Amino acid sequence: MTDRIPLLIDTDPGVDDAWALLMAFACERHRVIGLTLSAGNVGLEHTVRNALKLCEVAGVELPVFPGSATPLVFAAEDAAHVHGRDGFGDTGYLLPSRSAEAEHAALAMIRLSHAHPGLLLVCLGPLTNLALALRLDPTLPSRIARLLVMGGAVTGQGNTSVSAEFNIAFDPEAAHIVFEAFPAFDLVDWEAVLRHGLPHREVEHWLATPSAPAAFYRAISRRSREWSEDRRGEHWHCADGLAMAAALEPDSADWARHAVAIETGGRWTRGATVVDWADRSGGPARARILRGFDPVRLRHRLRQALAGAGAG
Ligand code: BDR
Ligand code: CA
Repeated sequence: MTDRIPLLIDTDPGVDDAWALLMAFACERHRVIGLTLSAGNVGLEHTVRNALKLCEVAGVELPVFPGSATPLVFAAEDAAHVHGRDGFGDTGYLLPSRSAEAEHAALAMIRLSHAHPGLLLVCLGPLTNLALALRLDPTLPSRIARLLVMGGAVTGQGNTSVSAEFNIAFDPEAAHIVFEAFPAFDLVDWEAVLRHGLPHREVEHWLATPSAPAAFYRAISRRSREWSEDRRGEHWHCADGLAMAAALEPDSADWARHAVAIETGGRWTRGATVVDWADRSGGPARARILRGFDPVRLRHRLRQALAGAGAG
């Protein structure tokens, strides 16, 4: 099919990233053209290996481009306590047979933006690679048809610090560069994720699907699901899965457009996404913020992903 929308995914897998990637692989209206990787949930060596392994399990051949191993300015803590030391639940999986590309993720973003008109760019991790690409080529936004970012906590109820969400808190300077550079982008924040929780028992039922991706996902997500049930109760929160659903199917979502700034200083609020809800600043309302996503369509996308690539 030639009229599929080209999709480039910047990611730091990560248990919820993995489900989002499977969703993208299974979508018949989009064609994933590559994965760019950064450090985030765990170190770059692990996120690259996890991406290669997931592609192998899903039976898709994609170029995987390693990018930034650190945030732009300040060191940040990873999320290994949620995702496992290797980012994929420490299951000791067999190493993938394919290797990553030599090209840096930021350079690949720029090159692929020239090669694929109408590009959809979905960012599921810290925004370091995209910020680097923007510094190398400030014209980049003109060649990206749509950008969707998973990040932020739009009323200040964070999951890393009191007010900051992980992807933004990991590299606030990068997020600032991205939020200032794009005239328009979509934002799926952590608080939206909390409104789209999935009952653990329902998720377990889906993960019993007899397919290689479902079996792999069941194993790599086990510890993270247990941690989540212990810490957050009866619902599991698949942040990057919700973001990918909104990326693939924007018409099933409600959106609200506002100006958003990133707090890069702040004694308590570094990494916060400051939303101008009342339009007091007069700043450009660049961010289209997800308010809600059709729960039936979300479940359809999540389940379709477990059936495998090309499932329709
Ligand atoms: C985000 O942080 C990461 O831990 C997840 O993969 C997701 O992208 C949620 O705040
Ligand atoms: Ca992620």
